[in-house]
Amino acid sequence: MTDTNTQIQLARQPDGEPQISDFQVAETEIPTAGPGEFLARNIYLSLDPYMRGAISGRHMGHSRSNQGDLIGGRCVAQVVESKHADYAEGDYIVIESGWQKFVVSNGGAKDQVRKLDPNGGPLSAALGVLGMPGLTAWAGVERLASPGLGDTFVVTAAAGPVGGTAGQLAKAKGCRAVGIAGSDEKCRIVVEEYGFDACVNYKKDNWEEDLKAACPDGIDVYFDNVGGPILDTITQQLNLYGKIVLCGLVSQYNRSGDGDFHGHNMGPFVGKRAQLLGLVVYDYYDQIDAFLKAAVPLVKAGKLNFHEDRAEGLENTPAHFAKLMSGKNVGKAMVTIGPEKS
Ligand SMILES: NC(=O)c1ccc[n+]([C@@H]2O[C@H](COP(=O)([O-])OP(=O)(O)OC[C@H]3O[C@@H](n4cnc5c(N)ncnc54)[C@H](OP(=O)(O)O)[C@@H]3O)[C@@H](O)[C@H]2O)c1
Repeated sequence: MTDTNTQIQLARQPDGEPQISDFQVAETEIPTAGPGEFLARNIYLSLDPYMRGAISGRHMGHSRSNQGDLIGGRCVAQVVESKHADYAEGDYIVIESGWQKFVVSNGGAKDQVRKLDPNGGPLSAALGVLGMPGLTAWAGVERLASPGLGDTFVVTAAAGPVGGTAGQLAKAKGCRAVGIAGSDEKCRIVVEEYGFDACVNYKKDNWEEDLKAACPDGIDVYFDNVGGPILDTITQQLNLYGKIVLCGLVSQYNRSGDGDFHGHNMGPFVGKRAQLLGLVVYDYYDQIDAFLKAAVPLVKAGKLNFHEDRAEGLENTPAHFAKLMSGKNVGKAMVTIGPEKS
């Protein structure tokens, strides 16, 4: 074990897309586990788009971060010392730890820390397809949209963990799954690795025509991960009484102020008699066992696939986060902090 706890803290509020210089590396003391607590070492750190809004105090439950604050984030970790009755040395967990090497916890709610079954799929998947993003996708498909056999299901950010999982779950229900992604390489992953029926690169001219060709019967469900003008464009191709799962607004997260926000003309939503289904994953944490019961066997059988975009070393976290928030990540963004086995 190293002597100090490395942390990534905020150096200054990002203005627009986050930069490496918005963050600072600090060496602090390794925390000590008191009675009823355990110490864990972090292995993988999840990088998620919501973090941009969280840092700026725009994400629910997060106040604006100040200089020197530890950046929040979820890790796969291993308990190295325990004075807690429910956690033993060697246990693997998922924990809201922050961007740091070590964390002390007293357990807490299921959305703060939960034990991982080391035989329940790859450990890193607990941050992606078998973690919060996967639960989000499952909730949107199974609990909100409930698409049926033969429906056309379209999802944006389709190469990422939410979009990729949502499309595969819809495909498994007999839908035509069509992804929208920002490069040919992402589209290749969406079709060849995830098994979607088609994928449209929205950075190409006339992508709306490509989408029409990919959805000859129109769109029954649109799982929206990006918001902004793409939501307006796709709504034009929605079938009457179609459903839109409002999951994410990643095209809007880097804005500097509220004035930059892309507003929507609601007329087309009315004209389509669209059902707008807002999704917040926190509402579904109490269903995570049902989700894992369905998803773990699929992942183990190679029927629910995922793609990861890893950086090596905690000190490379700011650069990897900047990559995610400029849309250049290809698959689930995460950082390897330490080895799986100590
Ligand atoms: N509602 C909830 O409870 C909940 C929970 C989890 C996640 N989410 C949301 O779900 C969405 C997908 O999350 P994820 O973890 O799966 O992310 P992700 O797909 O791994 O990464 C974000 C992707 O968004 C796309 N993107 C589009 N416009 C962008 C822009 N202006 N800047 C940066 N990226 C842009 C990029 O893909 P392309 O190149 O393909 O555009 C980028 O790779 C996000 O909006 C996230 O906030 C919502």
